[in-house]
Amino acid sequence: MALLLGFLFFCGVTDLIGSVSITTPEQIVQEAGGEIVHLPCMFTLSPEDQGPLDIEWLRLSGPNNEAIDHVVILYAADKIYSDFYQDLKGRVHFTSNDVVSGDASIKIRNVRPADSGTYQCKVKKAPGVAKTTVQLTVIDITGSVNITTPEQTVQEAQGEIVHLPCIFTYVSKDQGPLDVEWLRLSGPNNEAIDHVVILYSADKIHDDVYPDLKGRVYFTSNDIRSGDASINITNVRLSDVGTYQCKVKTYPGIVNRNLQLAVTNILGSVSITTPEQTIQKARGETVHLPCMFTLIPEDRGPLFIDWIQLTGPQNEVVNRMFIVYLADKVYDNFYQDMKGRVYFTNNDVRSGDASINITNVQLSDAGTYQCGVSHDFGTAQRTIQLTVVG
Ligand SMILES: *[C@@H]1O[C@H](CO)[C@@H](O)[C@H](O)[C@H]1NC(C)=O
Ligand SMILES: *[C@@H]1O[C@H](CO)[C@@H](O)[C@H](O)[C@H]1NC(C)=O
Ligand SMILES: *[C@@H]1O[C@H](CO)[C@@H](O)[C@H](O)[C@H]1NC(C)=O
Repeated sequence: MALLLGFLFFCGVTDLIGSVSITTPEQIVQEAGGEIVHLPCMFTLSPEDQGPLDIEWLRLSGPNNEAIDHVVILYAADKIYSDFYQDLKGRVHFTSNDVVSGDASIKIRNVRPADSGTYQCKVKKAPGVAKTTVQLTVIDITGSVNITTPEQTVQEAQGEIVHLPCIFTYVSKDQGPLDVEWLRLSGPNNEAIDHVVILYSADKIHDDVYPDLKGRVYFTSNDIRSGDASINITNVRLSDVGTYQCKVKTYPGIVNRNLQLAVTNILGSVSITTPEQTIQKARGETVHLPCMFTLIPEDRGPLFIDWIQLTGPQNEVVNRMFIVYLADKVYDNFYQDMKGRVYFTNNDVRSGDASINITNVQLSDAGTYQCGVSHDFGTAQRTIQLTVVG
């Protein structure tokens, strides 16, 4: 993450001899240690420049930058030479694949405070020569702030509260500004910032910056300065899935940690497809009470089926529970008067058939029956009226 603390433009002191010209002004670039820094150098050629193109980046020293310390990187005779300077070996590259087109900018990866200094970009195409300088300052941020929470994937079921931890330690706890930012990232390498999710800045919390999470995100600690920048997201949705970054800034340090949020889909349901109905049977016959159901998802969690008889003006009283299917077992001998007369008609209740038969129906069997089906994601009931004629 580039911490570009600022560009400072000087008035056009770009050196110009002949007709090559460098369009990038001299400037100061600041970067935090460990980051990638970009040292710009754009140039244009003119038809008078006939010689071969030469590009040199030099590191200068001395009170007036009069001494050439090192050649940093070189483009000459269509070749790139980048291993002159041991200190930058493997860390310095031209930014463009096609420097000839006018971009002689370089980048230095994993910058260190020791990289601070004056760099000169020099473009030659005889008779033209032009140069510009860039002052690089790399800020030492080592150890001033650390996030101790490791990178991780946090998984939570849809609708639940998810906790995204971000514990940090920093020096100078009592003075200086502390900023916390939670970002939502995107792109194949999480290189793009999609949204700022929640902010803590100047001792104030801004939790309404991201409409998708408005009212659903909060810091879990009421003392963020103590080193806890963790957040909770309530009623988590499938659309919340992605990469979240906790970023802690304490001058001059800045650190961040990425967390993956995974949300499991639990949109499950139970439904009974058999409609409410009234069934009439003659005394002594076998009556079939249907109860067909569907489960979504099909095979999650234990299945519980109970057949009960209801009474009362609103069928609000459970008179008796007389057959139960639980954990692949059937329990059917709760009541003496139904003993041996009731059974599930399908051997495979899980297939979606909780229908029962009652043999040798009696006048006293008449009433309201209810089939109940429950699994992890819900429960459903259906009532059936049974009338028995004598
Ligand atoms: C951060 O971590 C580094 C290296 O592990 C350690 O030297 C430094 O003291 C830590 N800083 C804080 C503020 O904990
Ligand atoms: C944050 O969410 C977790 C569950 O993920 C919960 O245990 C905790 O109490 C929540 N914290 C606050 C402050 O609400
Ligand atoms: C259930 O009862 C019905 C008559 O109501 C009958 O046709 C059916 O065969 C019975 N089912 C079983 C499995 O006994």
